[in-house]
Amino acid sequence: MEKKNVLSGIQPSGIITLGNYVGALRNWAKLQTDDRFCFYCVANLHAMTVRQDPEVFRQRTIEAAALLLACGIDPKRSALFIQSSVHEHAELSWVLNCSTYMGELNRMTQFKDKSAKHADNINAGLFTYPVLMAADILLYQASYVPVGHDQKQHVEIARDIAERFNKLYGETFVIPEPFIPKVGGRIMSLQDPTKKMSKSDPNPSSFIAITDEPNVILKKFKRAVTDSEARIAYNENQPGIANLLSIYSIFTGKTIEEALEIFDGMGYGQLKVATAEAVIEELTPIREEYNRILADRVYLEGVLNEGARQAAAVAEKTLHNVYAKTGLGSFFA
Ligand code: TYM
Repeated sequence: MEKKNVLSGIQPSGIITLGNYVGALRNWAKLQTDDRFCFYCVANLHAMTVRQDPEVFRQRTIEAAALLLACGIDPKRSALFIQSSVHEHAELSWVLNCSTYMGELNRMTQFKDKSAKHADNINAGLFTYPVLMAADILLYQASYVPVGHDQKQHVEIARDIAERFNKLYGETFVIPEPFIPKVGGRIMSLQDPTKKMSKSDPNPSSFIAITDEPNVILKKFKRAVTDSEARIAYNENQPGIANLLSIYSIFTGKTIEEALEIFDGMGYGQLKVATAEAVIEELTPIREEYNRILADRVYLEGVLNEGARQAAAVAEKTLHNVYAKTGLGSFFA
């Protein structure tokens, strides 16, 4: 049986949230089946596009890796590694930069959002960010890229870059597909349900951190912004309630229709508490496992070194092929 490869990444740029968990990490764990091999990275090169304090940055990178393990990434089934440990990412990124158009990058909505947010630091890395992401994906010949909805456009540009490269130089890259959950691909902020839940939001009440204590989770859900309709329904005009229903449905395994039946005639307070309880039940063992793994630096270092070794073996092969095809390598073979 030929295994299909999966690749995804997460930036160690802040507290990892329920949005990251539902949109991506939960699926990362589920995709670890016998017919797939998964590559998961802590995308620290991407996180450099905003200013980082070196010491805090290093610590957050390690914490992100520990959290991925706690969320169910199994080092026997997946290569878990830190992006900067595999130098081929930066190298392939340069080559792909030369096959990517300014116009394409200009259309990226995340670039527009991020440059508005960091107006004092609109660096070139922020602009070419999707090219580095394409390199992450294409190096591993990944067929599937499990991400939340906000990364769909970036996976699509990776497809375009791969197709263009294959046409110019001959079959080189597998064309990747985004893998986005039907419910939960976009978890919204608890304080402004028209905005996505984000780890860089300065207001901690707007997000649930995966490592939040149960009482904090309950408090944040109780304070979640809803509306004055006083009716539990799933529609666009009630984004706060729709968000709570989605989270409830994901964490209980019930459909939205089943959830609507359960809460028929009940108040918002009951939905908030029930949602908080379901989230607490799933996140508590993850928080405990995270603390255990983070304290075991020897284990963590072993996993990340082995992951980087496995990743590099594949990345090296792809880059070698790219260099050979483009006239960059094998001068005196
Ligand atoms: P990042 O670090 O912003 O987020 C990690 C993953 O979490 C998903 N996500 C969400 N899903 C649902 N609701 C939300 N509110 C929410 N917020 C975040 C993101 O879609 C993402 O899947 N550029 C990527 C990291 C990356 C990557 C890659 C991803 C680097 N290289 C290669 C895939 C393949 C990023 O910034 O994700």
